[in-house]
Amino acid sequence: MSSAKRNAAKSAVGLIPSSGAIGLGSGSTVALFAEELGKRISSQECTVSVVPSSYQAYQLAIEHRIPLTNLDENPELLLTVDGADEVDRNLNLTKGGGGALLREKIVAAASQRLAIIIDESKLVEKLASKFLIPVEILPFSLGYVLRAIKDLGVEPRLRRAERKMGPVVTDNGNFILDLQFRQPLEDPDNMAVNLKMIPGVIETGLFVGMADEVHVGTDDGAYIMKK
Ligand code: A5P
Repeated sequence: MSSAKRNAAKSAVGLIPSSGAIGLGSGSTVALFAEELGKRISSQECTVSVVPSSYQAYQLAIEHRIPLTNLDENPELLLTVDGADEVDRNLNLTKGGGGALLREKIVAAASQRLAIIIDESKLVEKLASKFLIPVEILPFSLGYVLRAIKDLGVEPRLRRAERKMGPVVTDNGNFILDLQFRQPLEDPDNMAVNLKMIPGVIETGLFVGMADEVHVGTDDGAYIMKK
């Protein structure tokens, strides 16, 4: 695992409150954060519990003996720490490389503060520069949503599973489309709204205006970008 991701994860450790409920994102960088959080809990430096944003996050919490909670008991979270696939200069994000975008967005929306942990390779001028934009869709709607997205001038690709035949099925029982745009997004907010207006699209991997700070790990340390 790269030291840059580890440094980003360690940088966010300082944000952990002494007690209360926080959101746990998903991905390989969050896995390193969960390890650090587990150490803090076992050494009694804090008593937080987490709402996991995926089965992966749920299993990470169990592995590192982090107490679990949920949005029914804690509809407002103090903080969420999550990774990202792309971050633009306005701290807008592309997420969903790991297919967890729907719960990640709910947990982020429920949080007073969203901190993102990445290595520098995730920084882009504009979203959709390097990464396809994922959307989670209802399987029943597939044919229609493909047509509606093509009508927007965007090329959708159904995400295929590895070591299982057929499409990826998300933690919520849905499909993922990865969207190839002709050019990087000038107005990600507008695109997020247009996509979400399509019946059958449940959520997009465009996280616009949600992140409060981004901890960027390098080989030597980390720096923080704020709104
Ligand atoms: C999961 O669906 C994603 O949103 C991840 O948070 C994102 O892909 C970042 O993952 P890495 O930390 O593994 O790069």
